[in-house]
Amino acid sequence: MEPMTASHADTDARADLMSYLDFHVEAGVDAALDERPHDRFAEAEAAAQAPAPRAEPAPPREPLPREPLPREPLPQRDPAPGEDAPLEFRRELPSRDPPPREPPRTYGNAAGAKPGEAADDARARAAQMTTLAELEALLRGFEGCGLRFTAKNLVFADGNPQARVMFVGEAPGADEDRIGKPFMGRSGQLLDRMMAAIGLDRSSAYISNVVPWRPPGNRNPTPQEISICRPFVERQIELADPDILVCLGAPATQTLTGTKDGILKARGRFYPYRLGDGREIRALATLHPAYLLRQPVQKRLAWRDFRMLKAALDGSAAGR
Ligand code: URA
Repeated sequence: MEPMTASHADTDARADLMSYLDFHVEAGVDAALDERPHDRFAEAEAAAQAPAPRAEPAPPREPLPREPLPREPLPQRDPAPGEDAPLEFRRELPSRDPPPREPPRTYGNAAGAKPGEAADDARARAAQMTTLAELEALLRGFEGCGLRFTAKNLVFADGNPQARVMFVGEAPGADEDRIGKPFMGRSGQLLDRMMAAIGLDRSSAYISNVVPWRPPGNRNPTPQEISICRPFVERQIELADPDILVCLGAPATQTLTGTKDGILKARGRFYPYRLGDGREIRALATLHPAYLLRQPVQKRLAWRDFRMLKAALDGSAAGR
């Protein structure tokens, strides 16, 4: 056996470190804040329970000066928006309010723009794309959503973009992230079986997600991430131009139809879906296959929805 050398040891240490980092990324850690973990709940509780500091006896009062205190000139007017405040305005009075809390950290937008700006920018750029290939290329270079920095791959679409039906899920999971295509894992296999039950497969359906990058640790995408990615999936729908859209699960249904209903209420209905050019198609809400894997008894509801889908496709077959 080869003797262990310094460079072997370095390689092993590096491999250990990399797998340690991978483990954290898989678990959803996407930023390093400190070397030690903090239990902020315990810290806040301990601070609330600590006895209030005893007041020091007040120092002896100095006699008041006899001379009147010099008065500062009164400020003339409020500063105009954008103009620096005069110095006397900038002096801060001691406040009784608790110090402002840091805004919650979100990673929706690594480019540093405000969320609304990033979504507007995404919409403006997506609108200029005239083919699905252009849209995919745009997304490959898009840095306005922080998820792209933790994902391994862009997950743009699978299936046939000419198909009459388009399925939209929520966001890729680990298998999809590794392979770069939507619905590749266990929920994808179930989706394939559900499609097969009504005579569809990936050559007769087009498949995508609201968010095209995997959220780390399979967490749900944040509302901010969804609002940044939404213009892209909307443009993708316009360019694919299906007759019928199928929203898989609550996030896709709520994002694309605007309903606030939970999925058990929203499913089994067609919603009007307006394309950018004003035309209207229909969007059917149904249960997400991942939910059906956890709640197999609900498959009967999904089966009803898929029969509605088949009837709608059969009914509108002549129209295409
Ligand atoms: N779940 C989704 O919503 N989309 C996928 O691509 C895979 C799992």
